[in-house]
Amino acid sequence: MGEAIITVKNLKKAFRTYRREAGLLESIKSLFARNFKEVRALKGIDFEIQKGEIVGFIGPNGAGKSTAIKIMCGVLFPDSGDVSCLKYNPWEDREKYVKHIGVVFGQKTQLNWDLPPIDTYYFLKEIYQIPEAYFNKRLSRMIKLLGLKEIIRTPTRNLSLGERMRCELVAALLHGPEIVFLDEPTVGVDIIAKEAIREFISNINKENKTTFIVTTHDMGDIEKICRRVVIINHGEIVYDGLLANLKQKYVKTKVIDAKFSEPQEFGLAYHGRIMSKTKLDIKIEVRAKYVNKMISWVLKNFKVADITVTNPPIEEIITYIYKK
Ligand SMILES: Nc1ncnc2c1ncn2[C@@H]1O[C@H](COP(=O)(O)OP(=O)(O)OP(=O)(O)O)[C@@H](O)[C@H]1O
Ligand SMILES: [Mg+2]
Repeated sequence: MGEAIITVKNLKKAFRTYRREAGLLESIKSLFARNFKEVRALKGIDFEIQKGEIVGFIGPNGAGKSTAIKIMCGVLFPDSGDVSCLKYNPWEDREKYVKHIGVVFGQKTQLNWDLPPIDTYYFLKEIYQIPEAYFNKRLSRMIKLLGLKEIIRTPTRNLSLGERMRCELVAALLHGPEIVFLDEPTVGVDIIAKEAIREFISNINKENKTTFIVTTHDMGDIEKICRRVVIINHGEIVYDGLLANLKQKYVKTKVIDAKFSEPQEFGLAYHGRIMSKTKLDIKIEVRAKYVNKMISWVLKNFKVADITVTNPPIEEIITYIYKK
């Protein structure tokens, strides 16, 4: 085991939202009897993150992912529990702590809307007192990795979402933080920008041993960059481990994909579920223990040009876990 740079113990956070019926009388009443609803966003979560890891936080909407990230960044107080990041308490030592972290919230911007990103970068250089040589080297490295040469001189308001997200990453990482929190960094961006962002995260992680905590609804992000996933559901951790083990644990079926050499009339597949079929190919989901039987049956009864066996897509596995 390496060194734990983030330790989270029994972290709890509840939000109270006040409900008020419409109408004057109701609003007067609510002055006296506060009618509130409590949402337990985090019900006591525990985990440790080692230096140099890229950890994917996933879970359905409202699971508590952003709440956990905000607490770890020090912008939100928990109700109870302990958090230690780089030996700091994020919300008590916030002033010192922020120099060591980088943060991107997909829905927010830290770039000045009316100025080109490069101006924000120079502003951040002053704020963080980044030495000239380090700043220049790091900026040009990141511009190269993300293909931003021209873009950083365009006013932010004129940038596309994908361009702006790449510029946000630079802003968050310029000062060379040891830990980077990314809350949905690829939301709404096209596949090219997604790929660029994923590559960038992997590269910075390798070059600087930077630790990343990433939330996303895009399983492509997870498969491309995270070895480890933490799945949160209803404020609780339901899985914490390697992505590969997740597949092993939950994948009880395989997908058989057969291509026919000439048009075939494919009937019922016993022990299997037909996922899709045409006259020239068929996809069947089969329980793992029936895979061999099914393959023999297909080969015996149909003119097969090609046959492959794969795991069901990660999305299906995740949906299955969310529903449990
Ligand atoms: N400031 C707040 N006031 C009231 N309730 C809140 C607040 N912030 C979050 N919540 C509630 O806490 C729960 C967890 O929210 P959170 O934003 O952490 O979810 P999430 O996992 O990030 O979801 P998503 O995938 O939609 O971003 C939700 O039920 C949400 O409505
Ligand atoms: Mg969120």
